[in-house]
Amino acid sequence: MDDRNGWGRNRPEPTGSPHDPPTSFVEQATVTNAADDEPLDAQFEDAWPACWERAADLLSWDEAYDTVLDDSNAPFYRWFTGGELNASYNCIDRHLEAGRKNHAAIRWEGKRGERETYTYQDLFVAVNEFAAALRELGVEADDVVTIYLPMIPELPIAMLACARIGAPHSVVFAGLSADALATRMDAADSEYLVTCDGYYRRGDAFNQKSKADNARLAVEQDVETVVVDRLGEELPHVLGDDEWDYHDLCAEFAGASVEPVSRDAEDMLFLMYTSGTTGDPKGVVHSTGGYLAQIAWTARSVLDIQPADTYWCAADIGWITGHSYIVYGPLALGTTTVMYEGTPDYPDRDRLWEIIDRNAVDIFYTAPTAVRAFMKWGTEYPDRHDLSSLRLLGSVGEPISPRPWRWYYEHIGDGECPIVDTWWQTETGAIMVSTLPGVDPMKPGAAGPPLPGIEVAVVDEDGNEVDPGKAGYLTIPRPWPAMARTLYDGDERYRAEYWDRFSDPDADDWWYFSGDTASVDDDGYVTVLGRVDDVINVASQRLSTMEIESAIAEVDGVAETAVVGRSSERRGTEIYAYVSAAGDPSDGLRERILESVADAIGPIATPEAVVFTPELPKTRSGKIMRRLLEDIANGEELGDTSALRNPEIVGEIQSERDRS
Ligand code: WT7
Repeated sequence: MDDRNGWGRNRPEPTGSPHDPPTSFVEQATVTNAADDEPLDAQFEDAWPACWERAADLLSWDEAYDTVLDDSNAPFYRWFTGGELNASYNCIDRHLEAGRKNHAAIRWEGKRGERETYTYQDLFVAVNEFAAALRELGVEADDVVTIYLPMIPELPIAMLACARIGAPHSVVFAGLSADALATRMDAADSEYLVTCDGYYRRGDAFNQKSKADNARLAVEQDVETVVVDRLGEELPHVLGDDEWDYHDLCAEFAGASVEPVSRDAEDMLFLMYTSGTTGDPKGVVHSTGGYLAQIAWTARSVLDIQPADTYWCAADIGWITGHSYIVYGPLALGTTTVMYEGTPDYPDRDRLWEIIDRNAVDIFYTAPTAVRAFMKWGTEYPDRHDLSSLRLLGSVGEPISPRPWRWYYEHIGDGECPIVDTWWQTETGAIMVSTLPGVDPMKPGAAGPPLPGIEVAVVDEDGNEVDPGKAGYLTIPRPWPAMARTLYDGDERYRAEYWDRFSDPDADDWWYFSGDTASVDDDGYVTVLGRVDDVINVASQRLSTMEIESAIAEVDGVAETAVVGRSSERRGTEIYAYVSAAGDPSDGLRERILESVADAIGPIATPEAVVFTPELPKTRSGKIMRRLLEDIANGEELGDTSALRNPEIVGEIQSERDRS
């Protein structure tokens, strides 16, 4: 496979279209200004996989690696084998050694207008203290520490403290429910939890600890718990057995220093649970060396991050975007990363633009769902602020269609900032498909070509590549450094979920299947069309319809249910639940359903609509016809329904939908 070219690829020349890279940007684009002043083309000539050494060169290694890629046990690939490094050292200590201890690492903007800055030195102190505290609690290398915190500085500090002592973290999004937390702690056998008393939600104090308490009751193992006091007097809490106050613990270890533990490049840096095709969330395992290398390289080349920048990714650290591009990527490069606790519309709809203005943010990375909301609110909000510090804009999480793309380009970027539309996934760990800013022309609606060193292929049912412009399954025929190494639930599930469908094990030919459909145009630009599995992207957040269905099926009075996505201008996709009731649905069933979903997963997963129907449409073999239910939800014209066992139900569901 080594004869395929490495980072080289045919890039379309600028065409004089309005979306050529802005000239003002081209001259300084980070990707074209390699430290060694090598011209861009030369950079991309290296053979694959040796080309990825450039990414590894952005890191500080304790022990040099012997081999870039070990593919002897595909699809369980190993990158930079023999190498050793520590992620917290790479994100903190080496910047102190480079004389940058007073440089701002994290600028935190709290929900109530509080502001805090952590310099790299401050971060060093905080991470060392908490690392010492974790050790004292008994955490050893390879113990999984679960972190259940909102967007407060203690969240990245706890992650980096884990990384320092070689304990993989498993961050659970703070908005998920007690049940969801318990499932994840159980699955990972995690005996340590870092959480907080509560946090503000739109100005109100919200109790997080009671959710954590319920989760602890539900898991079998004993759990040592550290509690960050976020709300002070506003939400008094009492610490029970095995519970420790975060700040007291750190005070006990004031001034402590903990030697960063050298980790094998292949050691697990963290676990991240995500929705899959079955009801159980998947524990995606990420490595230390390959992950950090690709994260650092993409943060530099795609997001254009330089140490002097103020960079802001407005995602939540509880998801992969925040892990890779709020914490590890920007800190590995030694830049200033902004961390925002609040929502875009509180106290007013200009909150984000006010933060950009005040901090002179250079780079802003957000999701299309947010851009659609800004567009709806109107230009008066960005117009109130000076956004001229911005140099680059990014988008991630779902396709950004041309209208919001243009709005973002004109009203936030003032026509001067390239937009990088970055396609990737929890499992890919890092950005895979995107234009290189300052190099590639942009095409609104298409994410872009695969990055140098990455290959993608769009194939039909049989795995044959389809012609340009034709839709098919988005696959990745070649491994990449930040790829998930396995699932915590086991290698078998990893193979079954991602590799079985399009690989030929007898020929040792392994193709990763992303679960997305896409098309590729003549220039090699990828347009992502959507998911083919039971995953839906709601407000740029990935949810499993199966997981929502199991929560609904739990409710007394529900006979059967099917959940589908409905396209929505604002949210991208909305959750649409069909329910056949065992008794009388008017008896508060809808409320109980919504409550059950919020309890099982979290408020992000509650259905926008619940449509009751006497029966669900089924094939003769008894399979629920989801495609048809999706079409009904979307008001689409329905195809032939004669293959149904109960075609008469379709009309009933349609009129029920119109009533609800
Ligand atoms: C799914 C992965 C990776 C960060 C956030 C989501 C969709 C992601 C794009 C994009 C079109 C996109 C895909 C993908 N997606 N980025 N730029 N254009 N679709 O991570 O929760 O693992 O979701 O998000 O459907 O498979 P995730």
